[in-house]
Amino acid sequence: MLKKRLEGKVALITGAAQGIGEETAIVLAREGAMVIVSDINDELGKGVASKIGASAIYLHLDVRSEKDWAHAMAVILEKFFKLDILVNNAGVTGFQEGFGPQDPENASLESWREVHAVNSDGVFLGCKYALQTMKNNPGSSIINISSRSGLVGIPGAAAYASSKAAIRNHTKSVALYCCSQGYNIRCNSIHPAAILTPMWEPMLGNGPDRKDRMAQITKDIPMQKMGMPDDVANAVLFLASDESKYLIGIELTIDGGLLAGAGAPPAKAE
Ligand SMILES: NC(=O)c1ccc[n+]([C@@H]2O[C@H](COP(=O)([O-])OP(=O)(O)OC[C@H]3O[C@@H](n4cnc5c(N)ncnc54)[C@H](O)[C@@H]3O)[C@@H](O)[C@H]2O)c1
Repeated sequence: MLKKRLEGKVALITGAAQGIGEETAIVLAREGAMVIVSDINDELGKGVASKIGASAIYLHLDVRSEKDWAHAMAVILEKFFKLDILVNNAGVTGFQEGFGPQDPENASLESWREVHAVNSDGVFLGCKYALQTMKNNPGSSIINISSRSGLVGIPGAAAYASSKAAIRNHTKSVALYCCSQGYNIRCNSIHPAAILTPMWEPMLGNGPDRKDRMAQITKDIPMQKMGMPDDVANAVLFLASDESKYLIGIELTIDGGLLAGAGAPPAKAE
């Protein structure tokens, strides 16, 4: 029988109660990893772990909290003796209720900080604790979920874009640091766009114009459709596995072709 791609590996996924994180947990477990499903939404997170079965446990982990990270690493070492894979996936857009406007002129400092606390502080803490835990392993992988928004400006979601750009850059610092220290830990970032998950619900809504809103999103995507969580989960699987053993500091875009061209293509000559 063929060996599974992550046989014997232990993987921690943040924000895994739904969406991309949930699908990633399912895919990594299917490929033989022991999976730690973590989130702040304990009810949904426990549901994901029990759906996966014996190869998953649920752990409460608020990525903003250093205490939670220390606790998570202690539990993982006690139960599984090592950590091989960290997927820093938890993220917020700033479009949640009460966050107010997200443009550079009107966003509040409080909401700017809150978005960065989850997206960039969370990834910083995750990498920090993972390095300390993984540095004596023969081969480990950290995958940071950034966004297309970390590569281009987004006027209506400035904090999100800035926090995702920080993830892109920090990934490269971590990757190079690991080389300089002789740690066998690879670190790469993934840049999805327009993946249909609950994150889009506040933007799509449930009103009669949901279809029009969806069409508005897909019309600018060269592939003319949104991506699905497994499109990202399968890329995580590749970066988590030893198949990508010579890849560090890369930024892998998963966006139906959005970044392959220009938003304002030259007009066709009449
Ligand atoms: N869906 C997309 O189109 C898209 C595009 C680009 C990037 N991303 C990124 O992919 C990742 C997953 O996105 P998604 O679409 O599945 O989102 P989602 O909103 O469906 O899921 C995000 C999960 O993160 C959890 N979370 C929020 N704050 C947290 C915290 N402080 N600590 C721990 N968990 C927390 C939520 O409870 C939720 O389960 C995010 O980082 C997002 O920015 C998504």
